[in-house]
Amino acid sequence: KTVAILFGGKSAEHEVSLMSAKNVIEAIDREVYDVVLIGVDKQGAWHLLDEAHYLDDADDAKKIRLHLTGEAIAVIPGQDRAQIINSKTNEPIKQIDVVFPVIHGTLGEDGSLQGLVRTLNLPFVGVDLLGSAVSMDKDFTKRLLKECGLKVATGLVFKVHEQASIDFKIVKEMLGLPVFIKPANQGSSVGVSKATDEVSFTTAIQDAFLYDDKVLVEEAVKGREVECAVLGNAAPKASVIGEILPQTDFYSYESKYIDESGAVLSAPADLTPEQVEQIQTEAVKVFQTLDCEGMARVDFFLKENNTLIINEVNTIPGFTKISMYPRLWTLSGLSYPNLIDTLIKLAFE
Ligand code: DAL
Ligand code: MG
Repeated sequence: KTVAILFGGKSAEHEVSLMSAKNVIEAIDREVYDVVLIGVDKQGAWHLLDEAHYLDDADDAKKIRLHLTGEAIAVIPGQDRAQIINSKTNEPIKQIDVVFPVIHGTLGEDGSLQGLVRTLNLPFVGVDLLGSAVSMDKDFTKRLLKECGLKVATGLVFKVHEQASIDFKIVKEMLGLPVFIKPANQGSSVGVSKATDEVSFTTAIQDAFLYDDKVLVEEAVKGREVECAVLGNAAPKASVIGEILPQTDFYSYESKYIDESGAVLSAPADLTPEQVEQIQTEAVKVFQTLDCEGMARVDFFLKENNTLIINEVNTIPGFTKISMYPRLWTLSGLSYPNLIDTLIKLAFE
């Protein structure tokens, strides 16, 4: 089978995607799969990349870049295999059997790419269109989970046309301080801030609206940050649990990818067997509630009284060298190459 790995993309997580893709590309078993690398640049154009040199400064989150060489390409539907063509000359270049999207955030993780690949008649790794869209949007995620009796942080949602009428005093009365301000559709904590007073709140709101037309304001949940990886289609399995111990104000973009001393990642987390089982059961329930298949990482807060608050769901979780998804599976007995192989097989089920 020929697997097209797509990475980069127009979202604010472009660089994270490049770091994720590098690990996926290194882990994929070449005796089983042929690989085609498709880099999506920041303008959204697709390029066929040379495997021998596809990234520049591959280990530095600030400098990492796609190494673009040849012509831009397009992918068109075929009878049973899609065709990659040169978008200038229309010459066919290659056929592909399955797509592995490793693009985080907007247009990669939100159902857009999944819909496009569906219209190309191609199987693809991960969650389908609907589950991707609802899991990307933190407002819809919360509404669906609440409807199923699952717990999420108390919060308010504002659309951009309501921005001028957001009243700090009302927010403070309802949610207390500090509060977290988040764009509804973003990943890697881009545009997320913690506000402690009116000045920081106003700045945080402005910043969040740079990334989305919809913004969430949430209470600060006191609890341990735990994460569980889920894998499978009809009978999804949950991994061992990981824990994030932020060493800064919160688990920000900076502490994720720039300054690694910003957070300590511990896995398996120090939890009782009952807590582990509770988190695993709930992670699978979240996965199924949001119509997920293939893979997702479910992030929680575990409160002192053992209540679980679901923070968010990532349907294209990070695969960077510090990322929890592959690490939790390795610790659960599934090596990186076996995880990639399982994900590709699940795309054909
Ligand atoms: N959005 C990033 C990649 C994550 O959740 O891992
Ligand atoms: Mg995320």
